[in-house]
Amino acid sequence: MERWSLTPPLALLCSIFSGGRLLPVVEAAAKPRQAALTGTWQNELGSTMVLGAPDAAGAFRGTYKTAVAASKKPIQESPLFGTQHLADHLEQPTFGFAVNWTFSDSTAVFVGQHFVDAKGKETLETTWLLREQAESRGEDWKATRVGRNIFTRVE
Ligand code: BTN
Repeated sequence: MERWSLTPPLALLCSIFSGGRLLPVVEAAAKPRQAALTGTWQNELGSTMVLGAPDAAGAFRGTYKTAVAASKKPIQESPLFGTQHLADHLEQPTFGFAVNWTFSDSTAVFVGQHFVDAKGKETLETTWLLREQAESRGEDWKATRVGRNIFTRVE
């Protein structure tokens, strides 16, 4: 994946003044880094999610298709709403998002961090809370599950 790109006139200038070799530092100043989380991801359960590009404040939207469910209802792709750190120097940002399941009364929240290893492999290491609707306050104690998911990039 190409992380940097230049507008054509700037690329030409760089090329002239650097003997045909584009200077990474000039490239870095030319265009912001691609958002680290944007794209399609799959976790170890087989669930997939598509994360859209963040806005200037770091807010993003996406969709989540879970491969498993606590609910007995047929699984449907569901919307998610998230927020991430954006600062250019932050290559491995933290983030969080909530999934509003359209096929059950539950809500899930995920928090995590994007990591890139020495070989360029990307993972999203997450911890989640899944809250189901309790019938009464007496059932509240058993209505929240916690777990971890690791996502790898599909696209
Ligand atoms: C429900 O069962 O009410 C909604 C689906 C919950 C799916 C959970 S969220 C945490 C875990 N990670 C997944 O990819 N799927 C399950």
